[in-house]
Amino acid sequence: MGSVDRFNRHINYLRVAITDRCNLRCFYCMPHKGVVQYAHSEILTYEEILRIVQTAAKIGFNKVRLTGGEPLVRRGIHELVQRLSGIPEIDDLAMTTNGVYLDQTAERLFHAGLKRINISLDTLNPVKFYRITRTDKFNTVWKSISTAESTGFAPIKINVVVIRGVNDDEIGTFARLSLGKPYAIRFIEYMPIGCDNDWRPERFMSVSEIKARVETISTLQPVPQTHVDGPAERYRFASGRGEIGFIGAISRHFCRSCNRLRLTPDGTLRPCLMLDEEIDVKTPLRKGCTAQDLETLFHQAIALKPKRPPVPLCNSMGSGRMMSRIGG
Ligand code: 5AD
Ligand code: SF4
Repeated sequence: MGSVDRFNRHINYLRVAITDRCNLRCFYCMPHKGVVQYAHSEILTYEEILRIVQTAAKIGFNKVRLTGGEPLVRRGIHELVQRLSGIPEIDDLAMTTNGVYLDQTAERLFHAGLKRINISLDTLNPVKFYRITRTDKFNTVWKSISTAESTGFAPIKINVVVIRGVNDDEIGTFARLSLGKPYAIRFIEYMPIGCDNDWRPERFMSVSEIKARVETISTLQPVPQTHVDGPAERYRFASGRGEIGFIGAISRHFCRSCNRLRLTPDGTLRPCLMLDEEIDVKTPLRKGCTAQDLETLFHQAIALKPKRPPVPLCNSMGSGRMMSRIGG
């Protein structure tokens, strides 16, 4: 399924960043102050997003994830979810959220057709949560996770970006969460991407090191990968209800199996997270282009997908966009 790119990869997964705004200020993602936000007129409307996703569906995309920024800060998001879940070709609709507004929206989102959710949470300690996100919303996020569970979301994935000296002391605590809870804890390598993100080599921790720490708790059993799995390597503890996954964003080269394209909040298709080359779809759309024109733009974006990141992953990617403007 999906359109095939130059390197024989099937591109069937569209990540849609619906806003660049966020109600947190994670130090590795956004500057503390002085965040310049897109004007509302620069951001795609839900109608426009819908048209773009419909086009994607026509050329073989069947997987959509809503991201941001923080998707839940955008008003009426359940209406978008409802309309997207009505596109027959899209059989997998998911969202990545920081969880702050999830407690109050979980029910509506679930009934609108969202079934899978990833919650980003880098610490289980409220004081540290404040240090990382510059807000005191830990308890709200924690409550949201149980609300999501009782609402019926499954699986519930918890994304943890591991940063040495910041939260690596909590690897064990997070891993143990998967014993009693049906959550998939996913440890993500810290990437040097975005502006001002404070990445330093000594803060980077590789998946093999993270995994070794987890294995000091108990043996990890591999969970068979399915074709819908992303880049996470999946495991579980023998007696655990949940799972533990590792995402080697830097150390493991999963470009070979990359199946994704990104739609940015301001309406460009971004072929690769690491590449600043993008295809503008908003301008043509607002000039009244046809569905056929949109398809052509998709094919152009797919053709731009590089074999691997364009520059060696080193100190700074020097990306022109903050992560919140790409969709993590
Ligand atoms: N490295 C790894 N993950 C990141 N995210 C944001 N910036 C980075 C980075 N530099 C993650 C967030 C969230 C998702 C949207 O992207 O923590 O889980
Ligand atoms: Fe917001 Fe996510 Fe960036 Fe944190 S990482 S500031 S939650 S967009």
